[in-house]
Amino acid sequence: MARFAGRVERAGYGLVLSPMFEEVGVFERVGEGTDVVRKEMYDFEDKGGRHLALRPEGTASVVRAFVQHRPPVPFKAWYVGPNFRYERPQAGRFRQHHQVGVEALGTDDADLDVEVVALAWSVCRDLGLERIDVLVNSLGNDACRPAYLDALRTYLAERVDQLCDEHRSRAAENPLRVLDCKRPACREATHDAPRIADHLCDPCAAHFEKVLAGLRALGVPVRLEPRLVRGLDYYTRTTFELAAPTLDSAQNAVGGGGRYDKLAESLGGPATPGIGFGMGIERLLLACDAENVFPVPDGAVDVFVVDTTKESAATLIAAELRDAGIGADRAFDGRSMRSQFKQADRSGARLAVIVGEREAAEATATLRDLRSGDQEVVPRAELVDHVRKQLS
Ligand code: HAM
Repeated sequence: MARFAGRVERAGYGLVLSPMFEEVGVFERVGEGTDVVRKEMYDFEDKGGRHLALRPEGTASVVRAFVQHRPPVPFKAWYVGPNFRYERPQAGRFRQHHQVGVEALGTDDADLDVEVVALAWSVCRDLGLERIDVLVNSLGNDACRPAYLDALRTYLAERVDQLCDEHRSRAAENPLRVLDCKRPACREATHDAPRIADHLCDPCAAHFEKVLAGLRALGVPVRLEPRLVRGLDYYTRTTFELAAPTLDSAQNAVGGGGRYDKLAESLGGPATPGIGFGMGIERLLLACDAENVFPVPDGAVDVFVVDTTKESAATLIAAELRDAGIGADRAFDGRSMRSQFKQADRSGARLAVIVGEREAAEATATLRDLRSGDQEVVPRAELVDHVRKQLS
């Protein structure tokens, strides 16, 4: 979380907290033809007879808030929170999952697509994940998608008997969902289906080219995935997914997102293009586990204070360091020196500040580098300066 916040705040995204439930209509814009709305929404009536739903995803709420409050654009927001989907629980698929994500509204500049996809990729890198596939596609817009959907419908109509039970009856209504279906019957039947990339209008094709060129210039290893249509209906143009090949293939997306240039309008706002992504925290953790990238706990603090005087030194020094903007922790329960050092090692801190009887009597503190073992005795009054110097 902290790494995510640091990464996206450095790119100008501010925290937005949206409510955990809203009027069901907000989420219906996600797409009436999607599983998320049709089958998985936790909707209910409250005591005032309002039809509400627990948030199944983060984008619709942020865009609703944007439409309501009309902040200046570009509006760049990040969020973290629970989402609820009535799904069959299994490894990596939960009825309550948590996402971190960003949404950026107010421009359809392809450079923003590059920024957003690259941010998602960087978040994975920051966590230490090396084996992440960045899959991208373009879904076109109102100018070119209808003709593509016609071509896809015609293709599917000729193969309707080969589709899975669910999609045999629904292929004509929402043909893109068939491309998204993971069942072997649909996968086989759509193997040679028309590709949207071959049907993009000139502006959408130029936009997509610019996004790909920008991502390659940044060294993001993108892979074109013509079947990537995503499970929500609001997407236009760029769509992407971050997949961990180390996870079970049906639940291996650790994140996904894309453009939604019509969503603000459909929620009653002015025409405002937007793009964003959401990442599943549980899936990110599963991927970290699979790559074994958490060998040592994260160093949440810089300094661990070891105090064997059983007086107030640890309390005072930890407070002083924290006030100076330095992360500091200490042990409790009057533990032995050995036990405090063990805890200091486990904390991931770089430095230990040690205060024993001698230091207390001499108004000094011992500063130990927990990696090299080097240590020095410094005057207590100059402790913060010495710590700062060693950490820099
Ligand atoms: P989504 O692909 O539905 O997109 O979800 C984003 C991520 O949340 C997935 O890639 C996955 O890691 C995680 N996730 C989704 N459902 C579950 C579940 N049942 N259990 C565990 N993890 C899950 C969205 O929600 C869009 N709002 C993303 C977006 C933001 N598009 C534009 N802006």
